Amino acid sequence: MRVTDLRPGLVLAGDVRDVSGRLLMSGGMCLSDRTIGVLKSWGVGEVHVTGEKACGLDETIGEDILAQAQDIVDARLARNDLTHPFVQEVFRLATARTALKLQQGERVLPPPVLPAAPESQEESFDLLDLDALTATNPALGAMPGVLARLAQAMESPSASPVEVADIISNDPGLAAKLLKLANSALYGFPQRIDTISRAVTVIGVQQLSALALGVSVMDMFKDIPKGVLDIRGFWRHCLACACGARALASALGLPNTERIFVSGLLHDVGLLLFILHAPKRIGHVLELVRGHGESLTSAERRILGVDHGMAGGALLESWGLPSSLTQATRHHHDPLASRDLRDVSIVHLADFLAESLVFGSGGQSVLMPVSSVAFDILDAPPGVAVTVLERVEDQLGQLESIFMHNVPN
Ligand SMILES: [Fe+2]
Ligand SMILES: [Fe+2]
Repeated sequence: MRVTDLRPGLVLAGDVRDVSGRLLMSGGMCLSDRTIGVLKSWGVGEVHVTGEKACGLDETIGEDILAQAQDIVDARLARNDLTHPFVQEVFRLATARTALKLQQGERVLPPPVLPAAPESQEESFDLLDLDALTATNPALGAMPGVLARLAQAMESPSASPVEVADIISNDPGLAAKLLKLANSALYGFPQRIDTISRAVTVIGVQQLSALALGVSVMDMFKDIPKGVLDIRGFWRHCLACACGARALASALGLPNTERIFVSGLLHDVGLLLFILHAPKRIGHVLELVRGHGESLTSAERRILGVDHGMAGGALLESWGLPSSLTQATRHHHDPLASRDLRDVSIVHLADFLAESLVFGSGGQSVLMPVSSVAFDILDAPPGVAVTVLERVEDQLGQLESIFMHNVPN
């Protein structure tokens, strides 16, 4: 169908790519006025469509709610360059999502406008000792053998499918989760995958090892105490970042999308470490972020001596996890400092998208600015933000039911 004849509600039959094969929009996306406009602006002439569904909720939102949503997003993105085309697109999407939440009666609060907290409040805190932090908790002090074997398999091009299937099958809980994942919307395989051996064959040895590793690390934090942080909101944020990072990587034609998914899943694990070992101090940090709009990492460095990227990176490094994972965790707020600039930039941008589009929260209030280096290296067209949003909306519900069924409310 010609793009000029499209109408909201039509569904794309297949992926839309530019002349060099780069993904612009994914098949299955329900078109809206906004996405049709994006296709026109890219100069796409024709697309294949299949069927129609009701997805144009934007038009039913009143102007007062839209204005309220715009003010909230404006305040949350205040530290970002609002003239950058990608940020502008995220602003538009975030406004629409926030307006929808407000219309549905959800409480979405703007960041505070209070002045910065007085410096004297923080003087009594000692700097957090990272070595003590990992050493004092036996459960986190040493990586279980199964993780070491998965980490090795993830990095080794010659890892055997039988060996990996064996490692995973020895842990029934892990195997069950991976099978659910293999049969989820994340992959959309036409046929059911019933065994781990089959999952290794269709997803890949290194890829399934990476997923198994991520799921196992996530499981180690399942008993995190409540009260300091909304834990469900935290894991929703991590899953959205994982899913968004994978969608971004695939839209940009990059390999290793499973490894990038796991990097997204674990990027904020340092916050959990703080909750376990320094709950009062991280509680104070989060109060400053929520109550005074302070940047999360600078408040952490001031009060704890390290930020959650440094803490999470140190933990994963102490376990000997592959540097592709430790780099993303350590540097996701400053990709320029990493040795793996492209992959870390993807997690950095996916983190920003997950926070901006309010898929849970990783503890930020006024969002830290996206690194201009990340924008430069990825060169992602603004329309990719829509693709990522649609993928996360499609996949997050299933991922939550697989990963979060035992996370307390
Ligand atoms: Fe973070
Ligand atoms: Fe995050």
